[in-house]
Amino acid sequence: MKIFIDSADIDEIAQAYSWGIVDGVTTNPSLLKAAVDKRKAKGETLDMEAYIAKLLEISKPNPVSLEVTKRTAKEMIAQGRTIYKRFNSIAKNVNIKIPVNPAIQVNEQCHFDGINAVKVLQSEGIPVNCTLVFTPEQALLAAKAGAAYISPFAGRIDDYIRSSAHIKFDKSDYFPEEGIEQNGVLLHDNGIVSGIDVVSQCVEIVTYYEYKSEIIAASLRNPRQVREAALAGAHIATVPFGVIAQMLRHEKTFEGMKKFTDDIVPEYEKLIG
Ligand code: G3P
Repeated sequence: MKIFIDSADIDEIAQAYSWGIVDGVTTNPSLLKAAVDKRKAKGETLDMEAYIAKLLEISKPNPVSLEVTKRTAKEMIAQGRTIYKRFNSIAKNVNIKIPVNPAIQVNEQCHFDGINAVKVLQSEGIPVNCTLVFTPEQALLAAKAGAAYISPFAGRIDDYIRSSAHIKFDKSDYFPEEGIEQNGVLLHDNGIVSGIDVVSQCVEIVTYYEYKSEIIAASLRNPRQVREAALAGAHIATVPFGVIAQMLRHEKTFEGMKKFTDDIVPEYEKLIG
């Protein structure tokens, strides 16, 4: 499984790349806002074009998702083309993030504008990461439209299932992939029992029908969820910096290291330098 870093913070991205295990980057408007706010809080001025260029250079040759901000197909296609034309020449690693359904309310007429934008951009050779996926059927339509990547948001499904049942939780709390019961009843969102369940079903659909789309398990909140995304067969997990940083930690590893360090014999260490 490939590991992407889910961040728009170039310091975090550079550090994660220095660890040698990162295969790409996903950004979104909220992550970009967090990165910009952090710099503004330090009194730094930001040249957005130079900032994006640096982000792409750091990630080269691995892919970087840059998201559109508009909601009609026409405008998203235009933005996708602009982003790609302006930035892809820098490191040849841009893909365009398009929401699977850009409607904010059910009575809007733009439900299929995302899918339409995916289809048009992909047909022009511009790779798309179809985002904000919460159901396997959304993933199916994104795959049919030819999306290079499809991003089910695991953690946000878990949040939704818990908050719909009025369960108090912290966003980083582990949520079992097999779901949870309340008063003996398995909680679910239209048959989906957890974020990893939706990731797993998306993987099953693209695999069964041999779609080319890669499933990116997104909105991951803890290392155990990354493990479950890997076991579910996700092609990619996009992981926040803090969660990547936690993935190597284990009390017994620390304890074992201490003992091995204490036991080093000088004759051996002299030999190896
Ligand atoms: O990649 C999607 C991700 O950025 C959303 O994460 O934690 O805001 O649900 P989160």
